Amino acid sequence: MSEVEKDTLVLHTGFEYDEVTGAVSVPIYQVSTYQQDALGGNKGFLYSRTGNPTRSALEKTIAALEYGSRGLAFASGLAAISTVLLLFSSGDHLVVSDVTYGGTYRLITKVFKRLGISSTFVDTTNLQAVKAAITPQTKGVLIETPANPLMNIADIQAIADICHSGDIKLIVDNTFMTPYWQNPLLLGADIVVHSATKYLGGHSDVLAGLVVAASEELGEELYFLQKSTGAVLGPQDSWLIMRGIKTLGVRMEKHENNAQELAQWLRTLPQVKRVYYPGLQDNPQYAIAQKQARGFGGMLSFELASREVAEQFFSKLKLITFAISLGGVESLICLPAKTTHAAIPIEVREEIGIRDSLVRFSVGIENVEDIKKDILQALKQD
Ligand SMILES: Cc1ncc(COP(=O)(O)O)c(C=O)c1O
Repeated sequence: MSEVEKDTLVLHTGFEYDEVTGAVSVPIYQVSTYQQDALGGNKGFLYSRTGNPTRSALEKTIAALEYGSRGLAFASGLAAISTVLLLFSSGDHLVVSDVTYGGTYRLITKVFKRLGISSTFVDTTNLQAVKAAITPQTKGVLIETPANPLMNIADIQAIADICHSGDIKLIVDNTFMTPYWQNPLLLGADIVVHSATKYLGGHSDVLAGLVVAASEELGEELYFLQKSTGAVLGPQDSWLIMRGIKTLGVRMEKHENNAQELAQWLRTLPQVKRVYYPGLQDNPQYAIAQKQARGFGGMLSFELASREVAEQFFSKLKLITFAISLGGVESLICLPAKTTHAAIPIEVREEIGIRDSLVRFSVGIENVEDIKKDILQALKQD
């Protein structure tokens, strides 16, 4: 159903109604195994690690929303990324965005490095730096755009061209934009990954990860890895993500409207030293963000005077929740240097600009004036 607009598509793709009962919400198939009529005579499902009808509905939905050939659902975003990285072998090399979720950084530098897969972290907003980091052993480039937490934008199409001038797979973490705003596969990426824990679930109540492959061949390889390693998403959680996706359109519009207004407003406050948001026109990558996505999303970051000021600010917030994670309907705020990005060594963090005074803000869908009031009262000196 690709001829309809995105807000219609999120409601009408992957699963319309149950063939047997007509149920308009996908049934939760809480089952591990399936009766067979004869050897090989099954009804499409054998065992829930290799396939489950509820998970399958979600996998079809995300494949359609990302315009890919196959979708796969995992127990968390990091389970999804780990499975994708298992495409690579000892001796292979990866190029990765230097500004990246701390858990992804830890996975690559502490786990995959041990398996003989090396990596170089570069500023992927700089195409020359990406080219310079590629070696004859490079088999994959992994980018986050916008990147967590500085909102740097990498040019997906230009990096896809660099990758495809060799035999290199481009993997894009599309968690911050979601398929509602951005479709990396249409820009030439080979694989999209999501922490569906965030906007796709949307209600801070479930952990999940999704992968979409552009080609059937890559989809088959990833399915083989999914069933071989087994970090699949359970049926209840698959259902929760399906339910979340139905309202993705309205939520993303509201998240973005609030974020756009708050980004402009925050920079007028004397206590705020700098605001990072891709939708600000003087953002260095504004033009690329506009070119490759339909929106700028609901995530922003800002600098306060010091870590102490930030901690005092957090302790006084009443409406906004001080918590890690993002993409839920409620506003969530955190200090990346001490939480989500603590796995990145301090000297690396300082160099890329994730300072102790940087506040990451997942803008919720509350009334924007109430959010402003809460920020103002929390910034007030005693
Ligand atoms: C951009 C990004 N990718 C991946 C992950 C990992 O996802 P999960 O926490 O679902 O494992 C996160 C988590 O914060 C994230 O922000």
